[in-house]
Amino acid sequence: MDERLQKILARAGFSSRRGAEQLMLEGRVTRNGEIVKELGTRADLDKDDVRVDGVRVKAPKALVYLVLNKPRGVVSTRSDPERRQTVMDLVPRVAGLFPIGRLDVTTEGLILLTNDGAFAERVSHPRYEVPRVYHAKVHRVPDAETLERLRRGVRVESDFMAVDRARVIDADNNAWVELTLHEGKHHEVKRLLEAVGHSVSKLRRVAIGPVTSRGLEPGQFRALAPEEIEGLRRGKDPASGALGRLARRRPRSRPRPSGRTAAPRDSQTSAPRDSRTHTPRAAGASGRRPERRRAGTRSGRR
Ligand code: URA
Repeated sequence: MDERLQKILARAGFSSRRGAEQLMLEGRVTRNGEIVKELGTRADLDKDDVRVDGVRVKAPKALVYLVLNKPRGVVSTRSDPERRQTVMDLVPRVAGLFPIGRLDVTTEGLILLTNDGAFAERVSHPRYEVPRVYHAKVHRVPDAETLERLRRGVRVESDFMAVDRARVIDADNNAWVELTLHEGKHHEVKRLLEAVGHSVSKLRRVAIGPVTSRGLEPGQFRALAPEEIEGLRRGKDPASGALGRLARRRPRSRPRPSGRTAAPRDSQTSAPRDSRTHTPRAAGASGRRPERRRAGTRSGRR
């Protein structure tokens, strides 16, 4: 597309628009080998060779930010040597797209995918303390003292792990607990709960910072809203609202099938579907690996 050079340079990250004008006036910008000093000059990066101080200006790639509600049984890596279904099978094919962090194959819930490496690093780094909220179904009901131990921290093998928040959200013979953490250690929720005597039989991640699973059924994905991307970049800033909103929301239980502990899929996932959500391009939410349908791609299991 034909655009003013100042705009092209600013979007490609060379400088602000005003700074780009300065670069042009200083004779440091060329188009197809010619120095361009006239400020209204236009160019098309698909056709023209534009350079600043001899460095080729490339069109910035479109950045993509998705959230997927990973079903149980799906692997959260880009590919799987055992040829199981991966999160990449459930989202559109976008060059350079990768999942941020991991969820165990048996864990359901939110996983972010992007092609923006700087964003992924920021969201994963413990320094920015992006809170992750989990719902875990555990054996027996943790008492107040156990929840306090989780908050104070527990040494598990060589790791010291603690939660920011812990509460029981549904209790019968067994219980559902809600834990909020910001670290991201390997199997942290299962190891923590196991260490205090409550083995986990089901685990779901229901929020990452301001992004919640509301309206997103397992197997569905959607694009992140600009304010969610901004909130994730800000990290623990309370203005991102993640902790506050979740703390205020009372989880709702599903109707209980006779005598069994209800699964608190809570208001986040039981809400009506968001029109921005998409079901997977190649599979239902069954967790089974789909046949590949496109000509020119490998079919069947990878
Ligand atoms: N903690 C776990 O134990 N498993 C997960 O998948 C995520 C957090």
